[in-house]
Amino acid sequence: MQYLLLTSALLLGLASAAVINKDGYPTKSFNVQIGPRPYYLVDNMDEGPLKKKMQSCSEGPFKVSDFVFAHRGAPLQFPEHTLQSYHAARREGAGVIECDVAFTKDKKLVCRHSQCDLHTTTNVLNRTDLAHKCTTPFTPAKDGVPAAAKCCTSDFTESEFESLCGKMDGFNPNATTVHEYMAGTPYFRTNLYSTCGTVMTLNKYIALVDSWRLKFTAELKTPEVEMPYLGYTQEQYAQDMIDAFKKANIHPSRVFAQSFLPDDIFYWIDNEPNFAKQAVYLDERVDTPEGYANATASIPGLAKRGVKIMAPAFFALTKVDGAGQIVPSEYAIAVGKAGMDIVGWSFERSGWLNKGGDYYYQYVSSVINNDGDMYTVLDVLAQKVKIRAMFSDWPATVTYYASCFGL
Ligand SMILES: *[C@@H]1O[C@H](CO)[C@@H](O)[C@H](O)[C@H]1NC(C)=O
Ligand SMILES: *[C@@H]1O[C@H](CO)[C@@H](O)[C@H](O)[C@H]1NC(C)=O
Ligand SMILES: *[C@@H]1O[C@H](CO)[C@@H](O)[C@H](O)[C@H]1NC(C)=O
Repeated sequence: MQYLLLTSALLLGLASAAVINKDGYPTKSFNVQIGPRPYYLVDNMDEGPLKKKMQSCSEGPFKVSDFVFAHRGAPLQFPEHTLQSYHAARREGAGVIECDVAFTKDKKLVCRHSQCDLHTTTNVLNRTDLAHKCTTPFTPAKDGVPAAAKCCTSDFTESEFESLCGKMDGFNPNATTVHEYMAGTPYFRTNLYSTCGTVMTLNKYIALVDSWRLKFTAELKTPEVEMPYLGYTQEQYAQDMIDAFKKANIHPSRVFAQSFLPDDIFYWIDNEPNFAKQAVYLDERVDTPEGYANATASIPGLAKRGVKIMAPAFFALTKVDGAGQIVPSEYAIAVGKAGMDIVGWSFERSGWLNKGGDYYYQYVSSVINNDGDMYTVLDVLAQKVKIRAMFSDWPATVTYYASCFGL
């Protein structure tokens, strides 16, 4: 009896030592949870073979997939680029988690979608000890002139930044008080988890995602101050982002470095060829018809220069043909012909799709009239455009599709 007790105690001790990780959860058999939203979207789809296929996958299994890029974490419901948002993204099956990179006053790298969005994504305006350091402190709306504020990561040191709370991105331009200004969450998001999100440095993000054995996508955000900034050059900034991964011994095959600036991509091609193999050129030239045509024409040249992955907003990857079908766009065809990969951005930022959707659905709006149409678009992107991955503000929506189709 005593012997039995001893062995079971020993076994218990061993078991807990072996399978509990530092989050306090077991490390074995990580269980992806997609929640009710994908089912709502599938129920909402038009009848047809795609809906039948999606329904046939309802009971999983749902798996972690590198097809799923967590855009800023899971900001449909969690404050973007916070610990809580990254946890949610992981739980929803994202294989790749994003940190947008911006620099602080002391030239440390932190995760923020823009260098100057602290007034809409954190509580900085409500911090009397810090708000006065903002590039533009809060000015109330008056006589038809909207409220103003501009707070940049470069206005603060890393430790000041880390003392902030992440909140849902949004603001009220009509605000006459800071409190009103901070309350601007779009109708389709929620403040339920927006109490005090833990903001992240690049190094803390790397350690976290590495501890999950997942992949990284880090975007070098275009500076909003003149460069060089207090002697800090664009090249040094691009190098520092890569060096953070090198110092943490992260293999380049686990990193997708991104930028909207072609010179950053070229810098990595010339100076960090191992990281350049998966560098992602975020292409916003497609935003105007002329820019779209120019961008399409430039694809072979970019491939020659060594660019491997193109990533426009996903509207630019499809169009509606004469028969009313969603088909690959000229841009998508050109990228495929050049042998480059494509990553699309971003799902789940549009709210309701019952009236043709927004910016992200502009080339297919004539055939978009319900939320379930999201999966029709994703299916064309995955099967016909053959995108390598899709960014989403709610990774679960894409995880359901990826698991269903074995991506
Ligand atoms: C701000 O005021 C304008 C004009 O009254 C109104 O149209 C708009 O909806 C208001 N915006 C918000 C976020 O309250
Ligand atoms: C601002 O700070 C005060 C005092 O800490 C708090 O009561 C209030 O809820 C805060 N407002 C917002 C919008 O966070
Ligand atoms: C497109 O290319 C033409 C010819 O190089 C150039 O003059 C024009 O400015 C470009 N337009 C855009 C929007 O990029």
